[in-house]
Amino acid sequence: MEKSLQNKTVVITGGATGIGYAIADKFLNKEAKVVIILDVDEKKGGETVKTLVTKYGDKRAVFYTCDVTKDLDAVYEKLIDNFKAIDILVNSAGIFNEFSVRKTMEINVVALLEWSFKFWEHMRTDKSGKGGTIINLSSIYGFRFDQYVPVYQVSKSAVMAFTKSLGHSYNFARFGVRVITICPGFTKTSIVVDMKTRVPEVQEDFLKFVKQQLWQEADVVGEAAVDVFETAESGTAWLIEGAKPISRVI
Ligand SMILES: NC(=O)c1ccc[n+]([C@@H]2O[C@H](COP(=O)([O-])OP(=O)(O)OC[C@H]3O[C@@H](n4cnc5c(N)ncnc54)[C@H](O)[C@@H]3O)[C@@H](O)[C@H]2O)c1
Repeated sequence: MEKSLQNKTVVITGGATGIGYAIADKFLNKEAKVVIILDVDEKKGGETVKTLVTKYGDKRAVFYTCDVTKDLDAVYEKLIDNFKAIDILVNSAGIFNEFSVRKTMEINVVALLEWSFKFWEHMRTDKSGKGGTIINLSSIYGFRFDQYVPVYQVSKSAVMAFTKSLGHSYNFARFGVRVITICPGFTKTSIVVDMKTRVPEVQEDFLKFVKQQLWQEADVVGEAAVDVFETAESGTAWLIEGAKPISRVI
């Protein structure tokens, strides 16, 4: 399949800040036609689009307010009305909060699956679609497990299994939709602010552990997403940690 970002229409959930925003920025820099940012954070979403439009030009970025757990059908209709065909879906919306089991599963897993299936149907080449790519955000916590964050680890390992299965070469050959995953290491975004309020029982040890990890800026993950988009086969997942080059995990 053609792996160029040029002229692509891209939808990014959770794209108002952090990694989703960095991916929007780097994809536009690689001449994506338009990036549609979806996020619950209306204020940040508006600011983000302003920044991107100033940098890349009118109509290159659009923001819709959207809760991925509630607004899939309504937003999907609006997207198809306004843009006809979507080439790339990036599932970046996510939370990290060990106190919220259901919410974590609903956002990090259930919504990610539902959004993927909806766009997979839209893209599948055996029906009327023209193919496309679904990029999921998993994490180092999708495959490297420790004693601190069981809820988040379950949510992110589910994304790995989903990618491996739906993105399997058997499905890709039949349906023409590439499904790939990015596994960032610790990245400086709002999801990791106030870590101690997000983890019960083990706060102090966890905070010590976190300090020793290889950190990186969100920008680096945006660049990595470009590399992964341009090279990855369907059903694969890629680690980006400590700003080192991407390496394949599954
Ligand atoms: N920062 C890290 O260290 C790290 C590491 C590995 C993986 N990740 C994953 O990367 C993805 C992006 O996280 P980030 O680090 O950029 O964090 P972030 O908090 O900066 O961005 C997450 C975005 O998702 C949005 N969001 C949350 N719930 C939503 C909902 N219900 N509907 C729509 N939007 C919603 C937030 O408003 C926010 O803008 C997440 O899936 C996260 O789990 C992050």
